[in-house]
Amino acid sequence: MTITIDELSDTVGAEVRGLRVEELLADKTLPQTIFDALEEHGVLVFRDLHLDPETQVAFCRELGEVDYSPGHHPVAGIYRVSLDTSKNSSASYLRATFDWHIDGCTPEDDAYPQKATMLTAKAVAISGGETEFASTYAAFDQLGAGERERLASLRVVHSLEASQRLVTAEPTPEQLAVWRRRPSKEHPLIWTHKSGRRSLVLGASTDHVVGMDAGDSRALLDDLLHRSTEPERVYRHEWSVGDTVIWDNRGVIHRAAPYPADSPREMLRTTVLGDEPIA
Ligand code: OGA
Ligand code: MN
Repeated sequence: MTITIDELSDTVGAEVRGLRVEELLADKTLPQTIFDALEEHGVLVFRDLHLDPETQVAFCRELGEVDYSPGHHPVAGIYRVSLDTSKNSSASYLRATFDWHIDGCTPEDDAYPQKATMLTAKAVAISGGETEFASTYAAFDQLGAGERERLASLRVVHSLEASQRLVTAEPTPEQLAVWRRRPSKEHPLIWTHKSGRRSLVLGASTDHVVGMDAGDSRALLDDLLHRSTEPERVYRHEWSVGDTVIWDNRGVIHRAAPYPADSPREMLRTTVLGDEPIA
């Protein structure tokens, strides 16, 4: 199999051509090729691949341990991303995907953030529903030396409540109680990866900077997020049925462009679990 990898923007995303579903599992060098490309580009796009759910899970299994939590789908390892509550009974939470986020910053337990996430489009929205990505490595790289120094020691509290409030501004006491049952987590603002590369840990789950005045804290986090996701730093994927996209959840931030709750949009997601803490 001869594959080509072409960049889709200056800082994030590349399109991979030449893959065929029938050969995906046979090529034993492919997982390493994909890892290397993910590390370099953050997001890989496979247009028109028409990956079936079983092969998707089997291929992700070659990339690492797969999340087999119940996913409202008959194939184990597939999680159905849909706002339709008849397809996913937890769909209302997924509106939080409309804000920039890193998956897994506020886990139930002490799980590390996911290594990678794969989405395949089963049905697309009539309008909206594109997925946008920005590199959090590039977000760090753009900082000046003085700013790096000022931010180096900062720690940030992340919570489910912070991300849910952005889409449900006036929760009922019951909703609030459910959100607050999820423990909040403290992470450094700058993540020094095992590879030595550094990235910013930003997004909807950021509640406040530890020890900083609430207003200053919000202003700082919003400014960093804004600068990290300027349109020229973003790859926006416009989905067609059969497209597959995989991203390095530790080095990119992502969001879905809003789409209506009754939209047919349905993505099949497989999550490759993480093995590295945010440190
Ligand atoms: C996710 C997610 C975005 C989308 O599955 O973690 O954020 O476009 N999805 O559906
Ligand atoms: Mn997500």
